[in-house]
Amino acid sequence: MKEPTSFVIFFSFLLFCLVPSSAYPDVKKQHYPCKNLVFYFHDVIYNGKNAANATSAIVGAPKWGNLTILADKFHFGDIVVFNDPVTLDNNFHSTPVGRAQGMYFYDTKNTYTAWLGFSFVFHSAEHNGTINFIGADPITTLKTKDISVVGGTGDFFMHRGIATIMGDAVEGNVYFRLRVDIKFYECW
Ligand SMILES: *[C@@H]1O[C@H](CO)[C@@H](O)[C@H](O)[C@H]1NC(C)=O
Ligand SMILES: *[C@@H]1O[C@H](CO)[C@@H](O)[C@H](O)[C@H]1NC(C)=O
Ligand SMILES: *[C@@H]1O[C@H](CO)[C@@H](O)[C@H](O)[C@H]1NC(C)=O
Repeated sequence: MKEPTSFVIFFSFLLFCLVPSSAYPDVKKQHYPCKNLVFYFHDVIYNGKNAANATSAIVGAPKWGNLTILADKFHFGDIVVFNDPVTLDNNFHSTPVGRAQGMYFYDTKNTYTAWLGFSFVFHSAEHNGTINFIGADPITTLKTKDISVVGGTGDFFMHRGIATIMGDAVEGNVYFRLRVDIKFYECW
């Protein structure tokens, strides 16, 4: 009588495991980050007069635009390259711990959306290495957007995760600050 009992237990266990996953296919597995880092980066946009200070520049524009002012039609076709200081707090004057280097371009003609590709480059005592980011930015619909952290080097060797990007401040058309909340789900 012992063996059937353990069989029954085994099969009830099996059912217990299988039924919920097929009955609730939408229930997502919970993931927890292995590392969480927060940085700010500061972008000073070229406006025709601040060449000495600007940390970003329009390098490509559609025929109806120019390289000084973002184009009509939701900036569609503008490509911006940046090399911005990265700080640990939201103060523009804090000592940078690295640089945010890369580009974004506007890619919809009837609303504001952009596509971002950039790296954080660190050579400081706190962090040494790079973190690489890629993703779409649906500017109008969300206050925050998640982009992919596709990899890293140095201290961030083989790291992957998600970065939540949030506008932290805007001053006129010249300065904006982004908060980047990085959650790594793969650490080495
Ligand atoms: C650069 O920025 C500093 C500090 O904001 C300001 O004092 C200076 O006038 C700026 N220079 C130019 C050329 O915009
Ligand atoms: C760029 O375009 C803007 C808006 O159309 C215009 O005001 C400005 O004069 C243009 N600048 C140059 C350098 O062509
Ligand atoms: C960063 O890492 C590189 C390569 O491992 C090393 O040569 C360099 O000295 C490190 N820099 C700092 C500031 O730790």
